[in-house]
Amino acid sequence: MPSDLLKQIQTLRDQINHHNHQYHTLDNPEITDAEYDQLFQQLEALEEQHPELKIPDSPTQKAGYTPLSHFQKVTHKQAMLSLGNVFNDQQMRDFAEKVQKRLEITDDIQYVAEPKLDGLAISLRYEKGILIQAATRGDGQTGEDVTDNIRTIKTIPKKLKGKNYPQILEVRGEVFMTKSGFNAYNKKAIANEERVFANPRNAAAGSLRQLDARNTAKRPLDMICYGFGEISQPLADNYYDSLMMIKQWGLQTSPEMTLLDNIEACLDYYQQLVKKREGLDYDIDGIVYKVNSFILQEQLGFRSRAPRWAIARKFPAAEASTELLAIDIQVGRTGTLTPVARLAPVQIAGVTITNATLHNEEEIQRKDIRVGDRVILRRAGDVIPQVIGRLETASKSRQAVFKMPKTCPICDSTVLKETDKAAYRCTGGLLCSAQRKQAIKHFASRMAMDIDGLGDKLIDLMVEHQLIHHPADLYQLTLEQIADLPRMGKKSAQNLLDALETSKKTTLQRFIYALGIREVGENTAKNLTQHFLTFEKIQQATVEELESITDIGPIAAKYIHDFFNQQDNNHHMEVIDKLLAVGITWNPVEKINQDGTLTGKKFVITGKFSRPRSVIKADLIALGAKVSGSISKNTDYLLAGEAAGSKLTKAEKLGVKIIENDDLDYLKTLK
Ligand code: IVH
Repeated sequence: MPSDLLKQIQTLRDQINHHNHQYHTLDNPEITDAEYDQLFQQLEALEEQHPELKIPDSPTQKAGYTPLSHFQKVTHKQAMLSLGNVFNDQQMRDFAEKVQKRLEITDDIQYVAEPKLDGLAISLRYEKGILIQAATRGDGQTGEDVTDNIRTIKTIPKKLKGKNYPQILEVRGEVFMTKSGFNAYNKKAIANEERVFANPRNAAAGSLRQLDARNTAKRPLDMICYGFGEISQPLADNYYDSLMMIKQWGLQTSPEMTLLDNIEACLDYYQQLVKKREGLDYDIDGIVYKVNSFILQEQLGFRSRAPRWAIARKFPAAEASTELLAIDIQVGRTGTLTPVARLAPVQIAGVTITNATLHNEEEIQRKDIRVGDRVILRRAGDVIPQVIGRLETASKSRQAVFKMPKTCPICDSTVLKETDKAAYRCTGGLLCSAQRKQAIKHFASRMAMDIDGLGDKLIDLMVEHQLIHHPADLYQLTLEQIADLPRMGKKSAQNLLDALETSKKTTLQRFIYALGIREVGENTAKNLTQHFLTFEKIQQATVEELESITDIGPIAAKYIHDFFNQQDNNHHMEVIDKLLAVGITWNPVEKINQDGTLTGKKFVITGKFSRPRSVIKADLIALGAKVSGSISKNTDYLLAGEAAGSKLTKAEKLGVKIIENDDLDYLKTLK
């Protein structure tokens, strides 16, 4: 019997060690956090029942993981600890009761509550107010020196503000990536065919592990502080006041951090934060409660890996695992094929999930996800659930490696892989009913023709019933045709006809946007309209003319030109003629008054600046300037940052004025 038990304990330890390595060292988790917590709790319970089987080497006795070898090791003067977990109100009450019992007090105890950020614990060491070292937690005793990487994070002060800080100050906190930063980063990574991260936590961890800090600097990282290591002089007699002090010195603390008077207030805070969670721009996986008084903290002390004065209340999982039943292909407006996971229904945070995105073929192959696998899903906020990985499954239920089809599953046209991109595209154009549906949905959408009451389902029905093949057909529909559709009546049909009639009076900008030309969003539509003023001029523009316009690069220019100049029979122009024939009109374009100080001036930007070039470009455009990609004798200014190359040489040769300061205030002084 004990040998069975030993075996069970050993298996659990092995599993947990394996998952620790996957998670902490490789940034590549194989199971959900909730599943990990379960394994951990099982082991903890067994060790609790059989204390004789506890060993110092058990994962329950250690915080974190073994540091990677590339970085210098840093021994923490004070260990960086982990936290115990609770999962419901009752366990939270039990925790508070234990605290009171140990302290032998019956009065209410004050707690500080803060969100439990899902990132990476980091210790910052300031000496005489200067950041001299930053280290990861590592195994709690020894971490990695990531000072250079941490110094690239803008919200971490390299020098503390004010004067009254202690000589030695170690502050601990969580480095993380915001959700918006993560999404933008992954989007770019997909476009550049670089590695995408499963979630903001892995992205933050991977970013800090960069051996070249210049890479870290490109990642949108942030830090919130929540604790202390070595301090030469105490800041205050409690945690809350200490946080207030470090805040004055320029370190960030959580805006959600609150002082609570008793355990009931802690339970209320939980309910409030659960509601707020989705709206926060960073992932949190629970709440950390800490006894506020430092004297009481000291009296309570530590267990092996966690303080007795703090606890993490975890949120219910936003991840789950389920079976991948099939991989379907969805065809988008411009023909892009997207693989979609069809799943055995599973609940995540109260919502039943049956579909999830799989990004693209490369992602699926990289993660080796196949039909028949148990896959891990994550649902963050209201975004479409994602498949983030798979669990090890018996090989016999696994099907072949996923491959994109060679022909479109909707219209059978040839599928082509975009050069230099991970995307595959159906070449059927408007012959493909999936693309037709999407094109008409785009045409009717709010920022386009804004056809009230023409929703996606209705468009699907109309295309399926062959009532419409392209947007112009919408304006030929009769009352009977619409009223005969399922779930439609005379009244709603008449409303739709009225809405279609109203939509005919539009603006040139909306009309251009509604055509659904690739790469032409609302902004490009506006720029085109402002530049050319009439539809005919846009339609006749050459690629060179198009490229000279603000924000239009060579690729968009080519798409726009090709759209109006299709070879063979020009389907696009046919549809446009029909749209104009049914009476779509717009008033002459009003030129936006741009009397900025730089109106008409032509700028080129090159080299590196402390802010993104796109932001500088937006500043210049706001001042009325034009920004283009290549230097000619017509260029008025070259704005040259660090490491400017051939453009600088060319500007010098052509005698173009060269400036180096991208400060808005400075730019405003130019003429
Ligand atoms: S306090 C001695 N506060 O959660 C107390 N930790 O599961 C140690 N974490 O290693 C940590 N937000 O990486 C604390 N507000 C917060 C936190 C937090 C996130 C992380 C931290 C820690 C882990 C423990």
